[in-house]
Amino acid sequence: MTNDQSELTDPIFPADFLWGAATAAYQIEGSAAEDGRAPSIWDTFCRTPGKVRNGDTGDVACDHYRRVTEDVKLMAELGLRSYRFSLSWPRIQPGGSGPANQAGLDFYSRLVDDLHEHGIEPWVTLYHWDLPQALEDAGGWPARETADRFAEYAELAVGALGDRVRYWTTLNEPWCSAFLGYGSGVHAPGRSDGADAVRAGHHLMLGHGLAAQAIRASRPNLEVGVTLNLYAISPLTGSPADADAARRIDGLANRFFLDPILRGEYPADVVADLRDVTDFAHVRDEDLAVISTPLSVLGVNYYSRYVVGAPPEGEEPGPHWRKPSTWPGSEHVTFGDRGLPVTDMNWEIDAPGMVEVLTRVHREYPELPLYVTENGSAFIDEVVDGEVHDADRLAYFDSHLRACHEAIASGVPLRGYFAWSLMDNFEWAWGYSKRFGMVYVDYETQARIPKSSAKWYAAVIRNNGLVA
Ligand code: NOJ
Repeated sequence: MTNDQSELTDPIFPADFLWGAATAAYQIEGSAAEDGRAPSIWDTFCRTPGKVRNGDTGDVACDHYRRVTEDVKLMAELGLRSYRFSLSWPRIQPGGSGPANQAGLDFYSRLVDDLHEHGIEPWVTLYHWDLPQALEDAGGWPARETADRFAEYAELAVGALGDRVRYWTTLNEPWCSAFLGYGSGVHAPGRSDGADAVRAGHHLMLGHGLAAQAIRASRPNLEVGVTLNLYAISPLTGSPADADAARRIDGLANRFFLDPILRGEYPADVVADLRDVTDFAHVRDEDLAVISTPLSVLGVNYYSRYVVGAPPEGEEPGPHWRKPSTWPGSEHVTFGDRGLPVTDMNWEIDAPGMVEVLTRVHREYPELPLYVTENGSAFIDEVVDGEVHDADRLAYFDSHLRACHEAIASGVPLRGYFAWSLMDNFEWAWGYSKRFGMVYVDYETQARIPKSSAKWYAAVIRNNGLVA
């Protein structure tokens, strides 16, 4: 056995590896009308009948806004080295423009101080999907001005917290904001127009670039990045038609964002695939230079793999393929599966896909330090005698951390990992019906119960690696 191989069987991580857990404002905070916060597109969407399972809303969520002190204690007990959370734009700038709402900033300022007091590195995401409703009313992300508003908000946030927060993520998963929010309409604001989705994607990236510049101008030493949801993608069969379907989805899901942000250009095949949807007239010459403002880190959210092919001719959808999604440009594509075990989201569990994604990003966009800013799984949990034994979730984390280790051993500069999520929370269109937490939340009492996976993760952090 060579040295390299023995390193692979000994899953100990680099000494300064950043171990964390992640959440997002709308998913945990509650207190939706406290201290001057105004509605976001998610408050509105939740009140639109039929959009969110069981009519759930983020009005109370995990009541984190009021329980923040005890939640930070819990993070400290788990031994987290870092905590990734998002700022609520409508708390900080309720109308989406103009001066800051001091009470909103104060909440995050206290959180940041408290994290430091417990030795936990704060990692801020500026936008995790809660656009102030006022900005949606003015056109939302399909409108170019929203990008300018976002940069102004970023400047306010970094002005207030940049002295104590080193890591800044501009956007979380802009693919979801653009294509689920404005394309399929299954996320807020629930609009369904392919051209608007593509415009939204562009203006999100423009907002990212402008915000990154604003952060750099304010404090040049901060670590600035963006978080993308990247997928491993496989064709259903070896046929040329299936290979082309895989290329299309890789273009729309991965390269639509990777290439402009990291290379300063839209992929030509994606532009061609979208030819019937938009002529890209919303893109100005100077935009791509802004969008590709150099970053110091890239955040990768990995959950699963897409298995895609050309729709079988004359066959009805069956267990192994679904109707084409409503993504613009994906009409010629069908989504299948390989019969692997799935999570409660029906997502196939595919840890090797994570190695694939990390090595691919490193190979194609080298030099950039990577962080897994989210990875995790929903399973049905049961409280038995006050405990939650979530063996499936624990196994998911274990296999995906082994995948991270494998990627590092093969040379990927992966610097940290954030479990999704610290605690059960509002899972968007699924409401509270899906649990991703390492900590169980009893929504009746707001009691927090660390699941087996949380205790296991605490040991992983203590050992800086997997206990063999
Ligand atoms: C990614 C999103 O960033 C997060 O908000 C969501 O809860 C998880 N995926 C799970 O779906």
